[in-house]
Amino acid sequence: MIQVTWKTEDGKAITANVEYGINLMEAATSNNVPLIDGDCGGCLSCATCHVFVDPAWIAKTGTVTEVEDTMLEMTDVERRDNSRLSCQLIASPELDGIVLYVPEL
Ligand code: FES
Repeated sequence: MIQVTWKTEDGKAITANVEYGINLMEAATSNNVPLIDGDCGGCLSCATCHVFVDPAWIAKTGTVTEVEDTMLEMTDVERRDNSRLSCQLIASPELDGIVLYVPEL
């Protein structure tokens, strides 16, 4: 298990314990994190799982694949250097404590 925190623009924080191997889109939807929909179920075709990774954690999230990079061009809120699609972030020991920000229009 790792601890994941999602923060919203209004300052609210949702923290959950997430089993290893679960992607952070699934973790968000199962913990009722607002504005993370995961419409495609994690098959990289919707970009509705967009998050901004806290800069302190971005290096630990690994590299963005070409497909994810393409999908990041289709997010509702414009991508930033720390944008990731959370269905591609898998709970693992090195992400214990990660903080994600929920993009809002
Ligand atoms: Fe669709 Fe992540 S859930 S791209």
